[in-house]
Amino acid sequence: MNVAFIGHGYVGLVTAAVFAEVGNTVWVVGRTKEKIDKLNAGIAPFYEPGLAEMLKRNVDAGRLKFTVDYKEAVEPSKIIFICVGTPTTPSTGEADLTQVFASATEIGKHLDGYKVVSVKSTVPPGTNKKVGEILGRVKKESATFGLASVPEFLREGSALSDTLHPDRYVIGTETNEARDLVLEVHKSIDGKAVTCNIETAELIKYASNAMLATKISFGNAIAILSEKVGADVEKVLEGVGLDRRIGRNFLYPGVGYGGSCFPKDVKALIAIAKQFGYDFELLRAVETINKSMRSLFVEKVKQQVGDTKGKTIALLGVAFKPDTDDMREAPSIDIAKQLLALGMHVVAYDPIAMEVAASVMSSEVVFAKTAIQAATNADVIAIITEWKEFRELDLEALGKVMKNKIIIDGRNMFDPEKVQSAGFTYVGMGRG
Ligand code: UGA
Repeated sequence: MNVAFIGHGYVGLVTAAVFAEVGNTVWVVGRTKEKIDKLNAGIAPFYEPGLAEMLKRNVDAGRLKFTVDYKEAVEPSKIIFICVGTPTTPSTGEADLTQVFASATEIGKHLDGYKVVSVKSTVPPGTNKKVGEILGRVKKESATFGLASVPEFLREGSALSDTLHPDRYVIGTETNEARDLVLEVHKSIDGKAVTCNIETAELIKYASNAMLATKISFGNAIAILSEKVGADVEKVLEGVGLDRRIGRNFLYPGVGYGGSCFPKDVKALIAIAKQFGYDFELLRAVETINKSMRSLFVEKVKQQVGDTKGKTIALLGVAFKPDTDDMREAPSIDIAKQLLALGMHVVAYDPIAMEVAASVMSSEVVFAKTAIQAATNADVIAIITEWKEFRELDLEALGKVMKNKIIIDGRNMFDPEKVQSAGFTYVGMGRG
């Protein structure tokens, strides 16, 4: 099937590449000619395992084409997926829908015959209907269209397999004609199809991310309590998570969640609820707990180091999670800021994200080429992102170059006994 994607961020580019990979002909619309030229040359604009290869393969095969011209993409396509950003409006926490509505206006101008316009961006209930109103106003009289809300559930770092083999995909439509067309384009995608009305699909997306964020904050609250009562949170959550009704996923405590989705979507769902007269207290607490984990981590540094002025801390990992170079809302940004304010020297190392990090972290943060280099002469090591590479660190070699052998493990990635037996002081999150 011929399909178009508007936007080539994480969601747009990954989904477009996967849909091309399974045999569709795919156009992707972007705004910047320079970026589009690079994409047409098969060059990925961000790091995601497997994406560069998939992109190149499909561009070379002529199944994946990038353009700045809506007409070129929309006219031949049966389904147009809107995958543009919906950032937080700082004053209200609401999703800013400017880009969604702007792309709907452009799509509308090129509708012809029957097409389905499908919103993949995360948008508040009611947005698809507004997109429909815009399309209705702009389109030529003979054109007809269906609407579909098809939210995205991929995770950065495992985006390709999440898109090819999701647990489920959700299709919210008003008509069977639109539903069947969107089902058809998903025929090579695994997972259970959940079909529903548009508002239901829109809310499923927010409810999913809010539920996952709630699990993380719950795990973090139990970590705080574990420390106070002398329990080991890892064992507590293992014991809890083995109950199949609960599960262990997304119960990993640490410095809290970051990224471009959970912080934004939790805020947006609180704002949506407020608009409908409901105070979503639970989610407000989820946010508060999440923020507190960063300060709690800095408190641990203070406890270990004593007088922080002039001391050096090695931050291992700065990306918001492993296997990505994404720094959006990364806990490392906030933590580094707090440590610098305490007069510490911050030396950071990340296997992939340093180039992006250098443009968003304080200019006082120094970047090292390796973990060992970051740890050289450091008073303390702080683990902020649980990259696999850090699991394989040679603790003996690390200990030799450090001033003081202290590891504060913000992701509980190490076995405390192993670290202690290498002569280090080990501090985790909630490991009382
Ligand atoms: C998240 C959702 O998992 C995806 O399903 C969704 O499609 C995506 O948002 C989105 O809305 O676009 P993502 O932000 O890429 O995906 O990454 P996650 O793996 O969910 O991690 C988010 C944050 O939570 C990271 O900072 C991670 O370190 C943290 N986290 C995750 C924890 O602190 N503990 C956990 O147990 C799990």
